[in-house]
Amino acid sequence: MKKFTGLMAALALTAGVAVQAQTNELVIQTKKVGAPIQSTMYGLFFEDINYAADGGLYAELVKNRSFEFPQNLMGWKTFGKVSLKDDGPFEKNPHYVRLAYAGHDHKQTGLDNEGFFGIGVKAGEEYRFSVWARTPEGGEGTIRVELVDTKSMGERQAFATAKLEINSKEWKKYQVILKPEVTHPKGVLRIFLTSKTTVDLEHISLFPVDTWKGHENGMRKDLAQALYDLKPGIFRFPGGCIVEGTEQPDRYYWKNTVGPVENRPLNLNRWQYTFTHRFYPDYYQSYGLGFYEYFLLSEEVGAEPLPILSCGLVCQFQNNDPAAHVAVCDLDSYIQDALDLIEFANGDTNTQWGKLRAEMGHPAPFNLKYIGIGNEQWGPEYPERLEPFLAAIRKAYPDIKVVGSSGPDSEGKQFDYLWPEMKRLKADLVDEHFYRPEKWFLAQGARYDNYDRKGPKVFAGEYACHGKGKKWNHFHASLLEAAFMTGLERNADIVHMATYAPLFAHVEGWQWRPDMIWFDNLRSVRTCSYYVQQLYGTYKGTNVLTLTMDKKPVTGAEGQNGLFASAVTDKNSGEIIVKVANTSDQAQPLTLKLEGMKKNAALTNGRCIKLTTPNLDEDNTVDHPDNIVPKECALQVSGQQVEVTIEPNTFAVYILK
Ligand code: AHR
Repeated sequence: MKKFTGLMAALALTAGVAVQAQTNELVIQTKKVGAPIQSTMYGLFFEDINYAADGGLYAELVKNRSFEFPQNLMGWKTFGKVSLKDDGPFEKNPHYVRLAYAGHDHKQTGLDNEGFFGIGVKAGEEYRFSVWARTPEGGEGTIRVELVDTKSMGERQAFATAKLEINSKEWKKYQVILKPEVTHPKGVLRIFLTSKTTVDLEHISLFPVDTWKGHENGMRKDLAQALYDLKPGIFRFPGGCIVEGTEQPDRYYWKNTVGPVENRPLNLNRWQYTFTHRFYPDYYQSYGLGFYEYFLLSEEVGAEPLPILSCGLVCQFQNNDPAAHVAVCDLDSYIQDALDLIEFANGDTNTQWGKLRAEMGHPAPFNLKYIGIGNEQWGPEYPERLEPFLAAIRKAYPDIKVVGSSGPDSEGKQFDYLWPEMKRLKADLVDEHFYRPEKWFLAQGARYDNYDRKGPKVFAGEYACHGKGKKWNHFHASLLEAAFMTGLERNADIVHMATYAPLFAHVEGWQWRPDMIWFDNLRSVRTCSYYVQQLYGTYKGTNVLTLTMDKKPVTGAEGQNGLFASAVTDKNSGEIIVKVANTSDQAQPLTLKLEGMKKNAALTNGRCIKLTTPNLDEDNTVDHPDNIVPKECALQVSGQQVEVTIEPNTFAVYILK
């Protein structure tokens, strides 16, 4: 029962929510432990959109390092005698440059690379420059490598310099360390030929030495750390629409992303041209961040890997010409790709693909348990393609769980058609997507309460609140995500995975927003949506507990004062964790009443973590990363209930013991 604090229940209308002046009594049943929360419940959706991979998480600083962009010298500026050749040592990346003596000691031959929105480096840190090179006519060649500030008004442009001797007619890999004297967000990599001897250069690369876990072909440390700090349970990759391509050749083809990086062929990135108002003609996929790196990163951030593969349909938004899709009768090689991927991840080292994994540095299996087939596909063309994949995977790998799709919409014709189809095909999980406005999130607190418990499990695979007319990151959208997520948690018996999307965006190179983590060349920022995800990931508990107000789940329904709530227990720590989102503009008293505790038992510890701000349209930025961050406070506890006040527009996690 609600306890009325005044004689009258005063009504106030704030943000469209009628808030009654009453204590909201949240009753938590502590004795009856409910469904387990899956370890995969909260996680990551990664896609190379917004320069998330090349120019982002993948720490390579050189753009078009193999000269394979269709305009081969895009990103480069040459001077003196530089020519482009195409008979290089790497079959799938045949282009390279030849640097010849400019004809006079006072002339120069060489080239500049502009990086991704410039090359960001930090003073005193080490950067590994590497290159494949040879002296085609024999003899000893030399180059000087510099980091320069081309906009500098100072006396000297270079702020890091190193020399390299090229001493063989045969192609070899050379490397040298550059140590910048200054921090620079937008440097340029400059290479001078310093000998009369001609030199050929291929796969010109520059990485920070200090990458995530120190891997040479590694990830940017701050960005990978941000992933780790989310405590993710699942890591979906490589997307998104990028899985599908606009045409078959530009779908994400995992086999091109493994093996030596020098021989991974370039692929188009469909986010280059998807939105012409945010057009990036230099956006390609180097595949330097490939499936081996994805599996490794999953392992290192503690998440189960979830690769998604093409089902033979290209992106139906971009290209629904039937001829663009692979006919069902021609799917064999696509199905084989899926089986081979499972072998790459899990196979013995004496299998073809398991052997490659071992050669790349990981003899132990990656222990893949899930695979997704198709992204946001729709229409009968999807289930008819999924079916043969399912049959083949079930036959060869009966323990692997297969994720199907309910299409691009959160409800409606395609959704209503695809869910029964996924049930018929016995997909293990169904991937739902919803980028929806405030109203939708406020109305969906009970979305999963009546889902069929006998069918596939739910993977909320892409979601974010896109404020109406406010499609950028702001606190209010994150608050509504937090509110909605109480419904995921309450229904953890059927919702087994949930991943916010997209994950990353470069402040100068984004195509889509809001996003969870923003970055520039040197800095990164965790948004309010990040903190919501982190609070759920950190305090996910082990089992659901029933929580009610007036005997009903707290879903933001009419008469519930704009409150959303859920509770879990953590069997390991013995804590009871209550999450409450107050989506109203008024502070509200809450009673957290624990029922089912032993008669003489009493709470001894309590704390609360809150994410809140009066500035609903604001978020954190790279310049102000700590604008809105979770704050911890102590709670006075005794007996079997706790009285608290939740501020207006606040997400709070109460941790009781
Ligand atoms: O997250 C951005 C895009 O949204 C994904 O690529 C796609 O699956 C969805 O439409």
